Amino acid sequence: MSDTLQAAQDTAPRAGRCPYHVTGRAQADPCMDYLHLRDDEPVRWDEDLGVWLVTGFREATELLRNPSLSAAWPEHGRTRLHTPAEGESGDGSRTSELVRMWFMFNDDPGHAAARKIVAPLFSAERLAAARTFVEGLVDELLAPHRDVLDVMDDLAVPLSSRVICHILGLPEDVAPRLAAWAPDIAALLVADYLPEVVTRGYRALHEVTAAVDDALRGEVPENSGLWLLREAHRRGEIGLQDVWATASLLIYAGFETTSTFIGKAVRATLHAGVRPGDLKADPAAAVEELLRFDTSVQQVARFATAPVDVAGQRVAAGDLVLIMLGAANRDPDVFEGPDHLRPGREIRRHLTFGFGAHYCLGAGLARLEAEAALRGLGERWDVIEEASAPVTRSHYGLTVLEHLKVRGGTRN
Ligand code: HEM
Repeated sequence: MSDTLQAAQDTAPRAGRCPYHVTGRAQADPCMDYLHLRDDEPVRWDEDLGVWLVTGFREATELLRNPSLSAAWPEHGRTRLHTPAEGESGDGSRTSELVRMWFMFNDDPGHAAARKIVAPLFSAERLAAARTFVEGLVDELLAPHRDVLDVMDDLAVPLSSRVICHILGLPEDVAPRLAAWAPDIAALLVADYLPEVVTRGYRALHEVTAAVDDALRGEVPENSGLWLLREAHRRGEIGLQDVWATASLLIYAGFETTSTFIGKAVRATLHAGVRPGDLKADPAAAVEELLRFDTSVQQVARFATAPVDVAGQRVAAGDLVLIMLGAANRDPDVFEGPDHLRPGREIRRHLTFGFGAHYCLGAGLARLEAEAALRGLGERWDVIEEASAPVTRSHYGLTVLEHLKVRGGTRN
């Protein structure tokens, strides 16, 4: 990490300028600062950050389906996503046009039209077909490891990067490059006022589009993501920029979110004393509780396009609203004993994959990967323990597990 970026990260929380420092703290401990907020004021204006923080489950759900809250980045508004500090250049609005075209950051009808093109990739039928590939990959990745394994390097990272390449129809040799691209794109999303961040983020996006172009020049597997996008382009429904935008969105949204979740899931079971051997009977139920308990995307941002009344508060047009998904998932009004991991807990709904129009398109795929990983570990070892302390790397939006070394064994 550059000195400039590190310095900015170090000062942002103290100065209270960047609302994304909230994410960093939430990632470290999803309920730390929010318990009192949620109990006292589930929707609260934070004067220092200049944003609304939404921590109650009911309020978060209500706001996520409110059409007056936009997922599109405003050009102007009362609050900005980020404000450059003194001495930093830029106006905080330089983020690549390509990223601004991501349908995740757009509203309907444009959002729905772009989402529809790649939605077939995640149908129940396609997920059932992907299961064989994913489970085979888990077996292949675990096979060389007799007793010690780095859950991130040896399993979660290669699994989620190779799966997303497979789904998109990108050659497998692109997969190892995702780990370098993801943090540079993530930094661009939240710190685009730092020249160094802009340079690296743009370079990563350029490399993504070059890899997409290379793949499109060759044989693209029928019905893969790139195939669907190329067909839509041929029919004249979208331009080449849209092809790049959606491909880069899927690469970004489908990779670090999932690898980090798998790592966090293993870490949570270790800390709660849950044995992998005990999860293999019903990994799907375990994954649901692990998703609720601690996940990789702790918050989503929305901008009010009109005044919104919620929980006795009035959100003004132009305000930035941060919906704290991790905190809402620990709301005791909805989940009994929310701070305890209870695999098998009956869960009607959690907010890990968001809610409403932008509900995660890859939720089924993420569940499938996590289930396969847990099942693979459980079939191999009854018990696992930490072989060394986990190593995390924080950038504004996400705290990524870099290393999680475990030692496995059989029950005695
Ligand atoms: C959207 C979380 C895995 C693709 C979202 C949203 C969340 C989320 C919270 C909603 C964003 C919003 O409302 O602004 C997660 C988590 C994952 C995961 C926690 C892993 C555990 C995946 C995977 C893919 C994917 C594997 C597949 C490529 C997407 C896309 C969107 C999205 C395309 C945008 C949907 C839209 O705007 O309509 N994700 N995600 N995600 N996710 Fe995921």
